[in-house]
Amino acid sequence: MKVLVTGGAGFIGSHLSAALVARGDQVIVVDNLSTGTRSFVPPEARFLDADILLPDTWKNDVGTVDAVIHLAAQISVPFSETYPMEDLRTNLQGTLAMLETASFLGAREFRLASSAAVYGDVSALPLRELGPSHPISFYGLNKWAAEQYLLHWATTHEMIGIALRLANVYGPRQRTAGEGGVVAMFCEALASGTTLTVHGDGSQTRDFIAVQDVALAFAHRLGNPGPSAVYNVSTGTTTSVLDLIEVLGAVSGQNVRYLTAEPRIGDIHDSLLSTALAEQWEFRAQTPLAQGLEETWHYFQQTGR
Ligand SMILES: NC(=O)c1ccc[n+]([C@@H]2O[C@H](COP(=O)([O-])OP(=O)(O)OC[C@H]3O[C@@H](n4cnc5c(N)ncnc54)[C@H](O)[C@@H]3O)[C@@H](O)[C@H]2O)c1
Repeated sequence: MKVLVTGGAGFIGSHLSAALVARGDQVIVVDNLSTGTRSFVPPEARFLDADILLPDTWKNDVGTVDAVIHLAAQISVPFSETYPMEDLRTNLQGTLAMLETASFLGAREFRLASSAAVYGDVSALPLRELGPSHPISFYGLNKWAAEQYLLHWATTHEMIGIALRLANVYGPRQRTAGEGGVVAMFCEALASGTTLTVHGDGSQTRDFIAVQDVALAFAHRLGNPGPSAVYNVSTGTTTSVLDLIEVLGAVSGQNVRYLTAEPRIGDIHDSLLSTALAEQWEFRAQTPLAQGLEETWHYFQQTGR
């Protein structure tokens, strides 16, 4: 298939681009390198240094495509609170611009990187796609709105829209800023011999998923997606921050030292996403936490980042 990947020079997008290339897909990456890295893009992919908000400057160079997978975004929740208009522009207007572009390019499928931030302040776990959503940040609000734009666009155009609500993604190439960065932060601190900082008492839990599993979810059933839908992409298991530190200590062979600090304002205590719908879609995460953390640790150890 010919697939356009926006944000393909970023953390998740670069792993996805490599997974698509490995399947034999023809990949075009659109990325303005605002946070992405050119060398992360696989050499087999075509790279356009271009902006999702300015599709008129590049869409005529692309030809037709079968699918668009839209990951380009601003990914920081605190940034979205300080600069809500910026977040709206990149994450909502940018999504609408990519929906229009996808139709212009003849794409029959559109996949959107959404987020567990869409659920916000919902305490009944596990979080279910058809249950309530109460976003508590502009980032979560704009991801929720982007899902609605996608589903509406898909019903009014000849397109299947799939939104994937990602849990806490971790893996090689993750930056310490942005969503789900606790694993990257811990690995970076460990690699530089710095003491880790745990906000709160460490009993808070998250649903951590390895980036290679997220890449597989975006590539899953491309060309045969079933009806438009929203799916969680998660492991359906929780890990506390203290458990995470223990596993990291085991895989790194390091004696992990940490300090505790005040809980961060706005942090929810527990997060767990239901995998039931995704399993009906025949997707299941495969990477055990220890394996994923070992690969991530080796990356940070080698790169010193
Ligand atoms: N990392 C996580 O835990 C997580 C969790 C939930 C959802 N997500 C979503 O997954 C997607 C990818 O996230 P990531 O962690 O790989 O982030 P990332 O910052 O590594 O990747 C985003 C990419 O988009 C590019 N980009 C940003 N604005 C652009 C623009 N205007 N035009 C073109 N390119 C632009 C950046 O240069 C970067 O390469 C995002 O949509 C994010 O909201 C991530």
